[in-house]
Amino acid sequence: MTKRVAILISGGGSNMIRLVESMTGDHPATCVLVASNDPAAAGLQRAAAMGIPTAAVDHRAFKGDRPAFEAALQAELDKAAPDILCLAGFMRVLTAGFVQQWEGRMLNIHPSLLPKYKGLHTHARALEAGDAEAGCSVHLVTPALDDGPILGQARVPVQPGDTEADLAARVLKQEHRLYPLVLERFARGDLTPVFL
Ligand code: GRF
Repeated sequence: MTKRVAILISGGGSNMIRLVESMTGDHPATCVLVASNDPAAAGLQRAAAMGIPTAAVDHRAFKGDRPAFEAALQAELDKAAPDILCLAGFMRVLTAGFVQQWEGRMLNIHPSLLPKYKGLHTHARALEAGDAEAGCSVHLVTPALDDGPILGQARVPVQPGDTEADLAARVLKQEHRLYPLVLERFARGDLTPVFL
C-alpha cells in the first residue's frame, strides 16, 4: 500500500524537492501535499511546478496562538490524508499536542549530528567548538525539540578556514542524499538507521 506523504516547509524547499523527486517508480510512498507556514515560501511554487498540491497557512495570522495555527494546518493535512509527515526546513516549533497526534509518523531533518547542537545555528556552534566533523540527522519527531530516535545521519569533515556558509553548503548536500534514503526505508516500515 503506497504511503501518502505530506512535506512541511518554510523556505526554498531544497530537501522537499529531493524527497518529491525520489518518490518514483516502485517507491513505497507518494507526495500528496507540500504545505508551508509562509505563503511566500519559494518551495510552494517549486512544488506546484512539479504537480504537487500545495497549501499555505500563514502563522503570522494567528498572532502567537500556536494551537490555532496548528488546527488550521491540521485542517489542510486532513484534506490530503497523509500517512507520513516530513518536516523539511520547517521553522516553526510544534506543540506537544500536535506532535502527539503524529508521533511515530513524523520525520524531521536537522543540520547537526544529534544529539549535538539541538536548536538553531548548528554550523556556527560546530565551528565555534572546533569540531573535526559535522553533519545532519533525520529523526522521528517527539515533543522534545530535535530529540527523537535517529533514523539516519550523514557526516562531513570540517575544513580549516570553513565559514558557516561553507559548512552549511557541505551539510545540505548530504541532507539531500540522506533524507530520501531514510524516507524510502521508513515508508517500507524499516526503522534501521541509515549512516552515510
Ligand atoms: C537548511 O538550512 C537545512 O539545513 C535545514 O533547513 C534549511 C532549509 O532547507 N534542514 P530547505 O532548502 O528549505 O530544504
